Amino acid sequence: MLADAGLARAATGALCAGTVSLAEIAGAVGTPTFVYHADVIEARYRELTGALAAVPHTLCYAIKANSNLAVLRFLAGLGAGADIVSVGELTRALRAGFPAGQIVFSGVGKRDDELLAAVTAGVGQINAESLEELARLAGIVASAGASARVGLRINPDVTTDTHPYISTGKNGIKFGVPADQVVRAAAMVAAAPGLTLTGVAVHLGSQLLSATPYQEALDRLMTLLPEVQAAASGTVTSLGLGGGIGIRYTGSEQPLAVEDFAAAIVPGVRASGMRLHLEPGRYLVGSSGVLLTRVLYRKHSGGRDFMIVDAAMNDLVRPSHYQAHHAVVAVGEAGDRRVRADVVGPICETGDFLALDRDVPDLPAGSCLAILGAGAYGFSMSSQYNSRPRAAEVLVHSGRWGICRRRETIDDLMGGEVVSPLDGVNP
Ligand code: LLP
Repeated sequence: MLADAGLARAATGALCAGTVSLAEIAGAVGTPTFVYHADVIEARYRELTGALAAVPHTLCYAIKANSNLAVLRFLAGLGAGADIVSVGELTRALRAGFPAGQIVFSGVGKRDDELLAAVTAGVGQINAESLEELARLAGIVASAGASARVGLRINPDVTTDTHPYISTGKNGIKFGVPADQVVRAAAMVAAAPGLTLTGVAVHLGSQLLSATPYQEALDRLMTLLPEVQAAASGTVTSLGLGGGIGIRYTGSEQPLAVEDFAAAIVPGVRASGMRLHLEPGRYLVGSSGVLLTRVLYRKHSGGRDFMIVDAAMNDLVRPSHYQAHHAVVAVGEAGDRRVRADVVGPICETGDFLALDRDVPDLPAGSCLAILGAGAYGFSMSSQYNSRPRAAEVLVHSGRWGICRRRETIDDLMGGEVVSPLDGVNP
């Protein structure tokens, strides 16, 4: 687990990201703080693109996993494209330096202003998810006198073995154009002035640990493709298999090895003659991140041990929202004493926990812990619940570190609020 995160213990027992001590960061920046190890992100990116070298491909990083501008800039620098789902993510992607043509706009509920912004920016592909969305997009493009490259996100009705909240490729869920409407959708695009159908795509779910669903989805796409090409006069050149490659969160979990993933899809992609588009999020950034937190109190109550820490569900919601497992390790020298404890935050909900009934280092108040696997869907899903300013973020690269988002202040919490909104409003 430590190796996945690019972490190792120095002879003193101090946990280090390369040569950078996490205790030093916690001391200088305070806690809670997310730390992202860019060397790990780079290694993951190179591993995946290397495994797919046999086919032309683009890796469009799913920005929702971790949208910090420094992380985005780093991935853009490696040559990644971006997968976005909102005008906010579009703006982040462009500011971070992703070329517009390397951006894919996904999402089941794009507003008109978001579609217009994407068309105006000239994004590489807008992946539509319904016939109504296509009609809306056609209208927007026509009235703007513009053009757009369109993909169809298809619901392939493939089962995945993951948490139901993040399984997205099965019939009866909100995502994608159902298979029986795909040819009609392709014909709609072909008939719309300014629109060109350039891709077909799926996204099956997240944290997938088997390559089988990808293979099944690829088979379904290949079955549909001849009819789609016929309806679209053969303009489709890109095959999207979404994101979803899973990582290791527990010592016993086997991550989906990229070689196995590549072996499952490369033959089919090669036979199609198309360019492969992937949208990995978690795979690229998940293991690279830790959440540093400090123990505030210890308590024994009702036969259980509690470690009350200064990070909470507002910082990392995955444990309480998906019952997700995140490893908890000591940042400093921990000694051999262990304890079975609940690691909980200060928020006023029993569901506010980072780890339940877990074997953790038996550390006193004031000690620092690292919550592993916090690089994806950590800060990006964080909130200010309980009026807690959001955490700071730090980027480590090649032995140097810097703050890539300062900790929010109490003033940040209330910046947009109006105490007396009715003053001066006519009755
Ligand atoms: N492409 C599309 C269209 C997506 O909806 C997603 C994620 C991705 C790519 C990237 O998936 P990834 O490679 O990161 O698995 N908050 C959840 C995960 C939600 C994923 C949503 N869509 C979690 O913390 O597990």
